[in-house]
Amino acid sequence: MKFQCPPGMRDFYPEQMRVQRWLLELWRQVSRTFGFEEYEGPTFEFLDLYTVKSGEGIVSELFSFTDRGDRRFALRPEMTPTLARMVAAKASSLPRPIKWFSLPRMFRAEKPQRGRLREFYQWNVDVLGTDDVIADAEVIAVAIEFLRQVGLSPQDVLMRVSSRPVAAAVLESLGIAPENTLRAFGLLDRFDKLEPEEFRRQWSEIAPGISCEALLSRLETADLDDCLKLVRSAGPQGDEAADQFIKLWNRLADLGVQQFCCFDLKVVRGLAYYTGPVFELTARQHQLRALLGGGRYDNLTELLEGPRIPGVGFGMGDAPILELLAATGKLPDLADELDVFVIDAAEEYFPRALQIVQALRRAGLTCDFSYRRQPVSKQFSQAQKRRSRYAVVVGDELIQRNQLTLKNLRTGEQCLVSASNFLTDPAPILGPNCPRQP
Ligand code: HAM
Repeated sequence: MKFQCPPGMRDFYPEQMRVQRWLLELWRQVSRTFGFEEYEGPTFEFLDLYTVKSGEGIVSELFSFTDRGDRRFALRPEMTPTLARMVAAKASSLPRPIKWFSLPRMFRAEKPQRGRLREFYQWNVDVLGTDDVIADAEVIAVAIEFLRQVGLSPQDVLMRVSSRPVAAAVLESLGIAPENTLRAFGLLDRFDKLEPEEFRRQWSEIAPGISCEALLSRLETADLDDCLKLVRSAGPQGDEAADQFIKLWNRLADLGVQQFCCFDLKVVRGLAYYTGPVFELTARQHQLRALLGGGRYDNLTELLEGPRIPGVGFGMGDAPILELLAATGKLPDLADELDVFVIDAAEEYFPRALQIVQALRRAGLTCDFSYRRQPVSKQFSQAQKRRSRYAVVVGDELIQRNQLTLKNLRTGEQCLVSASNFLTDPAPILGPNCPRQP
């Protein structure tokens, strides 16, 4: 039987691994510049953590198993329940605000499609321990900083922002009973996925007698001012929801990211735990599902029987963003590169060449050599193929004058350098960018 990589999973050959490392490092670096600290959790949790907290969409996609003690577990499909569990367990000792990020691998038994896999990395950025929507604005700003750094602009992507309390008030104004709001959110979340006829049919089940056209016209003409007027008319709760949203909107401007954002009532998010502002990032021109999804979840730690610790954050999958970067030509050219390729001018110099290779490696340089003894010209072409910045030739000069030939393979310049100086401290001789950053 010939084995293949299972559907929806990926093999990372070195070529793909370079891209993966670049992406994860950039996510890490952007998170750090905003003052977030990295955390990690287990790759599987007790099944109930998800069945109770995540909501139907994710639960139907769980990879679960039973251990020999008949305990039921699930591979993690998302990080937020783990995060809430970890924070709740140390609630009293963690200084506020809790600003954490993670780069976990996730598992969902989804039907594999463009940008959706069964195993993927998901960048998670969350702030816990504050009700202030500055936290909501800041997590959105982290994501937008990443987008800027990879060269995506508001012409390429759109952060669609809404708020569950605002959407609930609008639904209420249409006559939806509060006990049906969550079901209506579930349906709204599938607005883009369902055929219009199917959407209408399901709407009539949730809201018999309430015109779907009224809903659609509300959703399509979701002017922020209009909407907030309607929301305020719903009383003090409506006022609170409207104030919270306006404050968030202003903070997005203060942080200089509002031009990436728009108000969109159709964003309600599928997960059950969101309680406040919610947001999703979509590509403007490419048929891709959401590139990022997040929102405020103020009750999740309480659902886990911990103290109340409000939170807000997002998850961004590697697969959809890499699809978009590839489609827009924004993936960096990440060839494997060396600092130095060491060449022996004749076979008798090979043992000395190996000593030099080892000395350069110990000095922190990325250094390699040819396994086969072959003419110098062939070794030079191997150095070029490996995209080495420099070649060092070990030849007669080493024996006669303790010198090495150093060639800059980018400019073609060549010179003789003192072997002892070079091997003790190669960096000043090689100049900036050597050793290269990993
Ligand atoms: P989510 O909407 O389920 O939210 O996923 C967030 C993002 O993860 C998606 O927008 C997408 O980029 C990526 N993603 C989801 N499923 C897949 C998949 N099968 N393949 C590749 N990428 C995928 C959550 O997971 C929330 N826990 C996010 C969150 C963090 N909310 C607050 N904090």
